[in-house]
Amino acid sequence: MQLRPLTTAGTMLLTVLLFVSGGITHAHNITKILAKHPEYSTFNHYLSLTHLSSEVNRRTTITICAVDNAAMDELLSKHLSINTIKNIISLHVLLDYFGAKKLHQITNGTALAATMFQATGTAPGSAGFVNITDLKGGKVGFGAENNGGTLSAYFVKSVEEIPYNISVIQISKLLPSDVAEAPTPSPSKQNLTAIMSKHGCAVFAETLLKSDAEKTYMDSLDGGLTVFCPLDDAFKAFLPKYKNLTAAGKTALLEYHGVPVYQPLATLKSNNGLLNTLATDGANKYDFTVQNEGEEVTLKTKITTAKITDTLIDEEPLAIYAINKVLLPSELFKGATLSSSPAPAPAPRPDGAADAPAQPKKKGKKAKAAPADSDIEAPADSPDDAADQTPDHNGAVRFDGATSFIVAAAASFLGFLVM
Ligand SMILES: *[C@@H]1O[C@H](CO)[C@@H](O)[C@H](O)[C@H]1NC(C)=O
Ligand SMILES: *[C@@H]1O[C@H](CO)[C@@H](O)[C@H](O)[C@H]1NC(C)=O
Ligand SMILES: *[C@@H]1O[C@H](CO)[C@@H](O)[C@H](O)[C@H]1NC(C)=O
Ligand SMILES: *[C@@H]1O[C@H](CO)[C@@H](O)[C@H](O)[C@H]1NC(C)=O
Ligand SMILES: *[C@@H]1O[C@H](CO)[C@@H](O)[C@H](O)[C@H]1NC(C)=O
Ligand SMILES: *[C@@H]1O[C@H](CO)[C@@H](O)[C@H](O)[C@H]1NC(C)=O
Repeated sequence: MQLRPLTTAGTMLLTVLLFVSGGITHAHNITKILAKHPEYSTFNHYLSLTHLSSEVNRRTTITICAVDNAAMDELLSKHLSINTIKNIISLHVLLDYFGAKKLHQITNGTALAATMFQATGTAPGSAGFVNITDLKGGKVGFGAENNGGTLSAYFVKSVEEIPYNISVIQISKLLPSDVAEAPTPSPSKQNLTAIMSKHGCAVFAETLLKSDAEKTYMDSLDGGLTVFCPLDDAFKAFLPKYKNLTAAGKTALLEYHGVPVYQPLATLKSNNGLLNTLATDGANKYDFTVQNEGEEVTLKTKITTAKITDTLIDEEPLAIYAINKVLLPSELFKGATLSSSPAPAPAPRPDGAADAPAQPKKKGKKAKAAPADSDIEAPADSPDDAADQTPDHNGAVRFDGATSFIVAAAASFLGFLVM
């Protein structure tokens, strides 16, 4: 209690210091941080192998609960699939900053932290939350929230702290979680249309099921596939135009919404540029441009600008995102009005779809899917959510929001240079 004013003052000072130096320093690199500590080399290896490392590097206000090689060997002896290992490790990435000091000063002695497992949208209910509790004698316990309140691991030591960007701590063992350890279906067994239907893209899914394009999708699944499926309102409004297309045109339109490469959101955000689609046959045909607008990812054809509003699934080699508009290729809709404005202006669109709100509306069953940009749902606060709200855990939150915007803008610019 006595430390509280000091902590607040310290936080404010740090925020000012970070702000002043913000333009010069680089973001963290978790692979590099852990490479200095060979006792976590297995954990580090799997963080990279599952691509969680790039997601960690993209974020600030984050805590990695690393375990030593012995604890990882125990996990590996279970011979789980890489996707299952990804779920387990993502449960050990907390979407808040917990340095050693904060761990020992948790308000009310206990807290629930949202994890990256929660952010992937694959964790049902509270399975993506970790309970952190201050115990007697200065011990700090950790437990997966769905594990009946059992605190199964303990804080060992702080490995590296970059306040308030990233804290790497060691905990005594991996947190057991039946949900995270559940086997994930192999990609070729995934039912794409069922996933789409469950998350607000039923009209697109039904249309796909009736088309040859479905086979094209299934055929490229094992090698990597990213699908951008228009939400129901948008695709319903487009149906009259779709029905007007020739059979070949219909297939091309549907194939235009699939990309034969696995593209996690972090990759889409960092590598802006042209993407070929399943409809591409030869150079500069049926492609579109990926471009960041701040923290949002937009897809631009010569006619439409659509926005990613939700991640339905992201498990290598498959990613499915919901988008707010139907992508209209200029190859099929030559006569349509060009929309040159990159901003989501309220002007009428060729596809007749109304502009969707920046954040996906949570209606009915859709509420289960984690929105791509806000990453988590209640009860805990995520750094991204908190960025445009009043910070309630530390003063650095507001700064994080502004900085990630600058970093994202710089990343887009660099992306163009690389092209
Ligand atoms: C924290 O992260 C931001 C954004 O990535 C970066 O600009 C800043 O330099 C980092 N702070 C430190 C102390 O590394
Ligand atoms: C992070 O560090 C590793 C090891 O030093 C390096 O191979 C990797 O390219 C770095 N990643 C980024 C994004 O700089
Ligand atoms: C701490 O406990 C009090 C009383 O139970 C409660 O009102 C308050 O919301 C709690 N604070 C947090 C941060 O959980
Ligand atoms: C965390 O678990 C402990 C007991 O295992 C429980 O007493 C506490 O209420 C839990 N904390 C939260 C925030 O749910
Ligand atoms: C996939 O789900 C759809 C419902 O969206 C169903 O009609 C179809 O039969 C399923 N396909 C397979 C292979 O299970
Ligand atoms: C369908 O095509 C015809 C002939 O090209 C055109 O006149 C009509 O406006 C189109 N209808 C829609 C809904 O696009």
